[in-house]
Amino acid sequence: MADYIYTLETRLSPDQQKAVSAVIDAAKAAGMNVYLTGGAVRDIITGFTIRDLDFTVQGNALKLQKDLERGGALVSDADDETRSLLLTFPGGVRAEIGMARSERYEKTGKPPVIAPATIIEDLRRRDFTVNAMALSLNEGSRGLLMDPFNGAADIEAKLIRVLHNYAFLEDPSRMIRATRFTTRFHWPLEERTQARYESGKENGYIDHIRSSRIGDEIEQLAYEDDALGVLKAYEKEGWLKVLNPRWSTAKVDAAGLSALTKTRQQMNELGYAPDVAPAVLYFLTGRLGEKDVADLRRAIPRKDLVTAWKDLEDDARDLAKRLMGKEAATPSRTWQLLSSARPEMVLFLAVTARQQAVTQKIKNFFTKWRQVQQKIPLPEMTELRITPQMAEYPKIANDVFMLLLDGKLRSRTETLKFLKPLAPPPPPPPPAPTKRGRGAKAAAAALPAAAPVAGKGKKGKGKEAPVEAAAAAKPAVKAIEASAGKGVVAKAAAAPAAKDVAKSGKPVQADKAQENKAAKPVAKKVVKPAAKVTAKPKAVAKGKAGKPAGKKGKR
Ligand code: CTP
Repeated sequence: MADYIYTLETRLSPDQQKAVSAVIDAAKAAGMNVYLTGGAVRDIITGFTIRDLDFTVQGNALKLQKDLERGGALVSDADDETRSLLLTFPGGVRAEIGMARSERYEKTGKPPVIAPATIIEDLRRRDFTVNAMALSLNEGSRGLLMDPFNGAADIEAKLIRVLHNYAFLEDPSRMIRATRFTTRFHWPLEERTQARYESGKENGYIDHIRSSRIGDEIEQLAYEDDALGVLKAYEKEGWLKVLNPRWSTAKVDAAGLSALTKTRQQMNELGYAPDVAPAVLYFLTGRLGEKDVADLRRAIPRKDLVTAWKDLEDDARDLAKRLMGKEAATPSRTWQLLSSARPEMVLFLAVTARQQAVTQKIKNFFTKWRQVQQKIPLPEMTELRITPQMAEYPKIANDVFMLLLDGKLRSRTETLKFLKPLAPPPPPPPPAPTKRGRGAKAAAAALPAAAPVAGKGKKGKGKEAPVEAAAAAKPAVKAIEASAGKGVVAKAAAAPAAKDVAKSGKPVQADKAQENKAAKPVAKKVVKPAAKVTAKPKAVAKGKAGKPAGKKGKR
């Protein structure tokens, strides 16, 4: 039982997990039982990509709308009849939450009579055994799989099987779905299901398809990984003309679709996850007339998908214009512009842009400029204590990258010169050991005097120690330069402490040297070497040169 919850947790993306938690919480607050159902359960068990999440609640799902919206979900459709919500959760997670219901078909071609029901009755109204399973998300039974039609066995056997003999007659869109699933999974129809399917085709069941189901199937096509493959199968089976009488494979921009798939793959490898559905529809209907495209759009229930599809060209034109303008005058500015643009827009423009300058910039963004990141001297940054633990780290790393992109830091030495003034001060040395017994009083009395010297820069008893520490720190800084590419000569020239650092490659040797040589906190002079190597920053050099150094010593 628990295995399915484990599988659920490991198979869902972090955004999908958050969506599941939000639905569990909302259902709990409303006192409703909630189950994961349909394709999501099938995909969890098979290991296929979980494309969307279907939830079923025992109660009116429409009542969860406000709660879910407060959590950041966008509702793109609400169906009063089935009491279900179409939602998009943060991170682009598509979901549907419906009321557990029974469906009774009284007349062919007429919608079923719907009534609230238990989860088991709800599973009975579904299309195929592999889609008729539910996973409990309720406290006490979380992870329990309900599988009254043995869908798990059909998954094992890789078969698409209808629940009963009237499945295609009652809802002819299931014949289109059967074609879609057999194409997607490469699973055949089970023998009797195949016979029912052929009979349904011969007897023209499809003429009774409900218009809302046509919209569902157009929408589903957009999310298929091999949308063209499915479209071809639809054409062969005679289903494509059901979705639109003038739609055919000849109306597809196949080259655009193939470029989209390739670029999407490239973006996925770089860590982007653009929602390709609007662009898939754009290319699938590339040569279809305007009126037909408008008809298809009207039929799709998910309105945010339609809006994104409609806006594609305008948004891409806008981004191309910005890429040609001042806003993208330098590589760093272009990088910033493309990084902040929606990934789906970058993807679409990469595939459709006609201006050479635009395609080149996007190409650089995907390839050449990423290699520049490797020039960021991470080991030396660690030695300088510029590490991700620093609050300023993202900004510093980004600044270096931007300067490298624009060719403003032309060598490792220049990069280090830029970085050094930004290094945080070394951690304070450990307190001097306190003497016990006789003389302890005197030692204790000495301590407060030492601390302020270090802390506030007051001159006092600790005066000599800082000088020693400064001497120790100086070579350590040199060692960083040496390891940054100054070479053997520089290393040899460095003082012994520096040699150690260079050899071991370990950071923070300077601190060690300080610890060894200066039991007392380090004062002003310690940082001088850092100020000395200050490269960039004219700002730092100008009058402020001693400042970071001073701070460093004061700690
Ligand atoms: N369903 C059905 N008959 C239909 C459409 C849907 O019985 N004509 C049921 C199935 O149980 C299906 C669930 O509703 O699993 C959700 O439908 P949908 O999201 O369209 O399909 P999925 O099975 O989730 O498939 P996909 O992977 O394409 O999203």
